[in-house]
Amino acid sequence: MKKIRQQHDHFHHTLEAQGDVSVNPSTNPSLDDVIRLRRRGFLKGSLALAVSGFMGGSLSGCASGGSTPSQGFKAVPIQTGEDFDTVVVPPGYTARPFFSWGDAVLADAPAWRADAGNSWQDQLKQAGQNNDGMHFFPFPDNPNGRGLLVVNHEYVNPTLHRDGFDFIDGKRPLEQVRKEQAAHGVSVIEIAKDPAGQWQRVVPSRWNRRVSNLTEMEIRGPLAGHDLMKTVDDPAGKTVIGTLNNCSMGYTPWGTYLACEENWHDYFVNRDSSDRRTSHRRYGILDGELADKYAWNTAEPRFDATADRGQPFGGHVQEPHRFGWVVEIDPFDPDSRPIKRTAFGRFCREGCTASLGDDGRMAFYSGDDSRGEYLYKFVPEGRYIEGDREHNRHLLDSGTLYVARFDGDGRGVWLPLVHGENGLTRANGFADQGEVLVNARAAADRLGATPMDRPEWVAVDPNNREVYATLTNNHKRGHAHPINAANPRHDNHHGQIIRWREQGADVTATRFTWDLFLLAGEAQGGHPDHLTGTINGDIFSSPDGLAFDAAGRLWIETDYDDRDLLMENMGCNQLLCADPQSREVRRFLVGPRGCEITGITFTPDHRTLWVNIQHPKISYPASDGVTRPRSTTVMITKEDGGVIGT
Ligand code: FEO
Ligand code: CA
Ligand code: CA
Ligand code: CA
Repeated sequence: MKKIRQQHDHFHHTLEAQGDVSVNPSTNPSLDDVIRLRRRGFLKGSLALAVSGFMGGSLSGCASGGSTPSQGFKAVPIQTGEDFDTVVVPPGYTARPFFSWGDAVLADAPAWRADAGNSWQDQLKQAGQNNDGMHFFPFPDNPNGRGLLVVNHEYVNPTLHRDGFDFIDGKRPLEQVRKEQAAHGVSVIEIAKDPAGQWQRVVPSRWNRRVSNLTEMEIRGPLAGHDLMKTVDDPAGKTVIGTLNNCSMGYTPWGTYLACEENWHDYFVNRDSSDRRTSHRRYGILDGELADKYAWNTAEPRFDATADRGQPFGGHVQEPHRFGWVVEIDPFDPDSRPIKRTAFGRFCREGCTASLGDDGRMAFYSGDDSRGEYLYKFVPEGRYIEGDREHNRHLLDSGTLYVARFDGDGRGVWLPLVHGENGLTRANGFADQGEVLVNARAAADRLGATPMDRPEWVAVDPNNREVYATLTNNHKRGHAHPINAANPRHDNHHGQIIRWREQGADVTATRFTWDLFLLAGEAQGGHPDHLTGTINGDIFSSPDGLAFDAAGRLWIETDYDDRDLLMENMGCNQLLCADPQSREVRRFLVGPRGCEITGITFTPDHRTLWVNIQHPKISYPASDGVTRPRSTTVMITKEDGGVIGT
């Protein structure tokens, strides 16, 4: 077992001083180069050949036509210590902190202060908190040695401020709220290997960028300019300030990043308890005086979504309609405005995973991570055309949104959320397609979609285009929502992974077959043992992050309360590697006490892996028991330079 190196402070120091990294920041990839590269590395049905093409001989015997990829590492044991505060990876691997809350993103970012004394203006130039979904975008001229790492910052902890969140006379101080808004969003950082072959963060870089809750964004698609999007601040309904709660993500074949807006409802309040509008109620917006998360409504009026009839468009009552979308960001164009793509529908969106057909047609899969919510698929109307930037940049503005019904016989149907069909009519509260998309949950209710155990990440098997989704847990299953074949356990504390195969492996199919890949956690009565992690591999609970590598290994990240007694056999949260054929699950990494393991991305050669340590509880990455903990992107390499997982 190899303990993570305690060199973060030193590392940070080196990077602050390293304007001299051996890369030429003026080397601008041509867009076509970027697109070609993305295409080559993108998930395609017949990927086996493409994979061996860009990975050389390193994976020979691993990924030929759907055969079982190797899990060539020694599993690490669970860690149960109350004060466990490091990262453990298998023998022969090294893990080191790479990018933590407060690290410099922009060149003039002040150093991070351990007393949390940085201002909100400082924070806008530094990494945000709670690193979550992320993706590595390589530069075509040096794909395994230089790229842009794009990282979500989901939310903020009390550690953001010296003594936690303040209230003064019942209000949040604006300076604190601004810092919280600045610590949300996305970081884009250039990274490159130095002459010694070590990855470094590149500062300054023309691509380095922070997107936050204070960044202006464009609304596009069916809701752009729609009456439902208008507020007193934005009478045109086309511009919104900021993104919120960017949990997981996706990426497109044309090299853009899709940040997704998950628990945005917690940032709003509607103080009028008699206001029963579906677009608030169905999404859990509270009706007290304070917004559930951070009470920003006491400092900034747009988070108070109480209807104000004295103001145009009811004041800010429609501001919550402007969150819950896919946010497309072009990391290679730092001057571009992020775009909220409304054709995808509005819900508490965990992520947005693309699957590309051989003919350029696409599907984007998303979970709505709340108890009893649904799995969705968006199929753009147009096809991806390699190299045609002007065509591709508008592809996400029109298409069909579907929601999944999982039938008890192992079959399933994608139900279209289309105005005028299947009862989605004005008489039933859906005046037009805009209303269907803003109230996607209510539309899905009406269509008879299957309520799931909190759908989180989705991953597509590069060998056969099968789709896997984590259903993290639902301790209320069997109460509000009865058990069903896809969600078979009462009081489901540990979750499951479901998978489906689109009819004919066609990404646009409306029929599919499905099965349960595994039930996580301890065996619970009445289910075949081969489905449980306890019998066929290493135990874990609450699968959340999920990704395939190019060889077809399925990587699973966990998010459970590791101080919960129910979890005493699980240890701290983990990264595991599963074999889709045999269902064997092997534990690859264990994280610090109190953290969640999330976010996962590889270099194209799969010799570098990054994962995120989100909300560690003690003092990681310093692990000195004194310094305040920092969410951190960790970099993992094999000491012999080999492919991760082999
Ligand atoms: Fe942010 Fe569903 O996890
Ligand atoms: Ca998650
Ligand atoms: Ca989770
Ligand atoms: Ca989380």
